[in-house]
Amino acid sequence: MTYSGPAMAIETTLILCKPDAVSRGLVGEIIARIERRGYIITAMKLMQLPGDKARDHYAEHKDKPFFGDLVSFITSGPLVALAVEGEGVIEACRQLIGATNPLTAAPGSIRADFAQSIGRNLIHGSDSKASADRELNIFFNKNEFVSRKHDMDRWITEQR
Ligand code: RTP
Ligand code: MG
Repeated sequence: MTYSGPAMAIETTLILCKPDAVSRGLVGEIIARIERRGYIITAMKLMQLPGDKARDHYAEHKDKPFFGDLVSFITSGPLVALAVEGEGVIEACRQLIGATNPLTAAPGSIRADFAQSIGRNLIHGSDSKASADRELNIFFNKNEFVSRKHDMDRWITEQR
């Protein structure tokens, strides 16, 4: 048998540029880091999240003491939701994002570079395939995804 490299699955993850990222003008910075890593955006929208969707999105935290603050913050202003596709993208985006608390996030990660506080940590990324599937359904309808390939050449030069 010949070696054919690691068998990484193409996945899609949900990324949220939270209301602090939108208000601080950091959406472009965050998206640039995802794009330059080579991942593909397959859906994106600017929206203010209704309370029921926020509670659904953060359902795993419903019994935590910070749940109320979490829901009121995520619904407090517009956020940008993105579906991002690529090999191993779920784990890779968690690395790009950094640990939940910006104080312990790896240097160079988004939270370490731009955030100070756990409750204003700028960005969400799904933590598993099951979470990604569940969360993507909260933010996007099936018909809002586009199918894209890595076809850089035709975006750089006219193809004749
Ligand atoms: P996220 O879901 O936003 O991507 O963040 P995460 O996986 O790194 O962290 P998670 O445990 O899912 O927590 C969700 C959000 O709740 C806030 N949080 N506050 N006060 C606290 O102890 C506390 N713990 C979590 C954070 O804003 C976190 O992003
Ligand atoms: Mg989480």
